[in-house]
Amino acid sequence: MKAIILKEAGTADNLIFTELPRPVPGDNEVLLAVKAIGINPVDIKTRSGMSVYNDLKSKNPFIILGWDVSGVVMEVGKNVTKFKVGDEVFGMVNFPGHGRAYAEFVAARENDISKKPSNISHQEAAAASLAALTAWQAIVTNGKVKIGQRVVIQAAAGGVGHYAVQIARYLGAYVIGTSSAANEKFVMGLGAHKHIDYTKHRLSELVDDADFVLDPIGGGNIDISIDAAKKGGTVIMLPSQHKDEIANKAKTKGVNGLYFSVRPNEENLQQIASLLKAGTLKSHVSQTFEFLQMKEAHKQIETGRTVGKIVVTV
Ligand SMILES: NC(=O)c1ccc[n+]([C@@H]2O[C@H](COP(=O)([O-])OP(=O)(O)OC[C@H]3O[C@@H](n4cnc5c(N)ncnc54)[C@H](OP(=O)(O)O)[C@@H]3O)[C@@H](O)[C@H]2O)c1
Repeated sequence: MKAIILKEAGTADNLIFTELPRPVPGDNEVLLAVKAIGINPVDIKTRSGMSVYNDLKSKNPFIILGWDVSGVVMEVGKNVTKFKVGDEVFGMVNFPGHGRAYAEFVAARENDISKKPSNISHQEAAAASLAALTAWQAIVTNGKVKIGQRVVIQAAAGGVGHYAVQIARYLGAYVIGTSSAANEKFVMGLGAHKHIDYTKHRLSELVDDADFVLDPIGGGNIDISIDAAKKGGTVIMLPSQHKDEIANKAKTKGVNGLYFSVRPNEENLQQIASLLKAGTLKSHVSQTFEFLQMKEAHKQIETGRTVGKIVVTV
């Protein structure tokens, strides 16, 4: 099968196209013929030697990056009960372990995947794996956002942000989204009630009473997010590079600050699949790339300007 491997951390040029044997699914796994791969910043961080690179590299001669897939079941392990050959499925495979999604075939644990709604494409499904699970686990599981609450979604035009706006709106929150002016229309189209252009305004000059703030940016932005939250409110910060700063900084202002890392969750994925099926949640795939264009896909994520999601087709 066609696959892309990483032998050493580095730039997108370190991604090597090669041929490998098909994986053999374990007893609790299915073999998927991959149709689309969702690309996330964690792919790029791992490729560069950050995130889970050291962990994966210490156990493997080379890494096959990628966790988000949508595809067709080709084989099922002997303990698999939920899927049969021919089913169209999607999900976040084996995160934060070795995903091995940058390939024509991938072995996926049955609990990591869900049936793909038939009314959405493989591209839309692959997009809605890690980023949509993150948005769900931030807003519902950890943030416990409730109807009528004031919610700020920073980086609302990005992968996680664009799902987060839709999920917060679905829960009945008043949603404020931040992005540059170029993406205002997009963010409002997702269902935000108010848009703030972070290049013109410091968020906390306009909002200081949010019940919940999602911060997918981190760094110097953490202080801005904390200032936008009310006392007793919650700020969730996503980039792992800054995970140790958030709780203490937030505490000094009487705000609950937390970092979490997304995890596969069967029930959450089912909920996302139902919302996708109903059209309540939509994946905005701004660009698709061919498998041979994986380096270009990585370079697009590296711009930090991606709108919605980008997907690679196989
Ligand atoms: N902890 C976890 O489990 C977890 C899970 C998923 C992602 N993450 C992390 O979360 C981060 C975001 O991921 P993502 O997939 O959403 O990234 P992404 O899609 O690459 O985000 C790009 C978007 O960020 C916006 N942006 C950049 N700087 C901004 C700012 N200062 N204010 C508002 N918007 C800004 C851009 O909008 P403009 O062009 O309009 O500026 C662009 O649309 C990454 O660091 C990722 O690794 C963590």
